[in-house]
Amino acid sequence: METVVSGIRSTGKLHLGNYYGALSNFVKMQNEYNCFFFIADLHSLTTHPTPQDLHATVRNVVIEYLAAGIDPEKSTIYVQSDVPEVAELYLYMNMNAYLGELERSTSFKDKVRSNPDNVNAGLLTYPVLMACDILLHHGTKVPVGKDQEQHLEMTRTFGNRFNHLYQVDYFKEAFAFSYSDKLVKVPGLSGQGKMGKSNGEADCIYLSDSPEVIRKKIMRAVSDSGPTEPNQAKPESIQNLFDLMNVVSAPDTVAHFDDLYNKCEIRYGDFKKQLAEDMVIATEPVRSRIADISNDEDYIKRVVKMGAEKAQASAQKTLKEVREIIGLKKLY
Ligand code: TYM
Repeated sequence: METVVSGIRSTGKLHLGNYYGALSNFVKMQNEYNCFFFIADLHSLTTHPTPQDLHATVRNVVIEYLAAGIDPEKSTIYVQSDVPEVAELYLYMNMNAYLGELERSTSFKDKVRSNPDNVNAGLLTYPVLMACDILLHHGTKVPVGKDQEQHLEMTRTFGNRFNHLYQVDYFKEAFAFSYSDKLVKVPGLSGQGKMGKSNGEADCIYLSDSPEVIRKKIMRAVSDSGPTEPNQAKPESIQNLFDLMNVVSAPDTVAHFDDLYNKCEIRYGDFKKQLAEDMVIATEPVRSRIADISNDEDYIKRVVKMGAEKAQASAQKTLKEVREIIGLKKLY
């Protein structure tokens, strides 16, 4: 059976981008594959969270994984830092990751541009740690959103380079996975780009947002004064709202508003109201379970302990083999 590995950073509440880009696929994949889903707390250290925030956000992501429907009996749910073997593998893999290729990574360049005061080495070698998450369990399928595609390419490069260096056929190639024909990019509400916390709170709909908050955010989403001639191309802000509708609404609802748009008869108030209602319905099951699971501290503890044990067993086997391949054998 193929192995699936994926993770989400513990940087706060999960939004619809995380859900439709990654989490909803995790839930489907657990019935078909051997799955490892983790909370990437080590990756989130690049932005220097306070210890209190880090702890709270890790717990929050565990809760939202469970609320979305990841079943700890079917999948291994674990916290990345509970499996320190990944840090050891990261050290080994850093020896054959090159400065030039790391500097060329799009996500690194974006981070340098958006936060020039915190260009730390962890940020530079972020793709190496991500590759190690996957290689640690010999993952071949990685459910992620479109923004992670380049990291998967780098994962294949690092794994293949290791195999070549040591003349082994050890690490397998991993590929980004989505059930739809393309990797998903969920747009935000601020009129441009993908949904993400770095674009501000108003850009994101969180899984834990109440129906009132969802309605308010959608009604305030950036739009324009409407089309002025039939069959006009949609500006980005309007296309984004249509893309969101495509994600949460029925196809005939989208077709209906598309038709109105093309005839210059669309009323954005009605369009947004429909989008908000469909979004409230789509997120309802997860939202209601978040509240229930948050109150069950024993369950949360049991899940992460069981996950840590399963992930550690898998990681320890890999590290024993990797040390041997490298030649790190005990002299005593
Ligand atoms: P992160 O924490 O930024 O995002 C987690 C997942 O959510 C997806 N995502 C989106 N998908 C579609 N539209 C959006 N607007 C959107 N926003 C976020 C991301 O593509 C991702 O799948 N580097 C990873 C975490 C990671 C990881 C790994 C993933 C660490 N190690 C190993 C897979 C395998 C990250 O920062 O994701």
